[in-house]
Amino acid sequence: MAALVMVLNGPNLNLLGTREPDIYGATTLDDIAAALVDQGKALDIEVDLRQSNHEGHLIDWLHEAGSRGALAVILNAGAYTHTSVALRDAIRAITVPVIEVHLSNPAARERFRHKSHVSAVASGVIQGFGAHGYALALDAAARMRQSAR
Ligand code: DQA
Repeated sequence: MAALVMVLNGPNLNLLGTREPDIYGATTLDDIAAALVDQGKALDIEVDLRQSNHEGHLIDWLHEAGSRGALAVILNAGAYTHTSVALRDAIRAITVPVIEVHLSNPAARERFRHKSHVSAVASGVIQGFGAHGYALALDAAARMRQSAR
């Protein structure tokens, strides 16, 4: 059976492609989803990509990843990364490894983006590689499965 990887995207990421393209690039979230589904097929991984502008949806989906026994969650929590203790607690509440992704490199941006509530409870962090960061994260998830075998 294919392993499940949930790819959860937070606020404003539905606007990728038109939102500050100098920072986030021209690739849309639909483009990212299609590329990940293809990559997942080659890795025998089912990719379930979602986006919400609402914090509680992201929390519910993290719980769902836990109850469905997902191999991993790839999480770009957008600005909630920098504000949400509730997201951090949700990650701690499940045993599924979470890979934190950011298109930009928040460490090289405004000071308020330097704090991530996610990083300390994530298995790893990929940031600054644009849309390609998602592909790197899916590869990391596939390698986790290999090392668990
Ligand atoms: C982001 C970085 C965050 O600081 C920002 O609020 C976002 C996108 C990124 O992917 O680079 O919405 O998570």
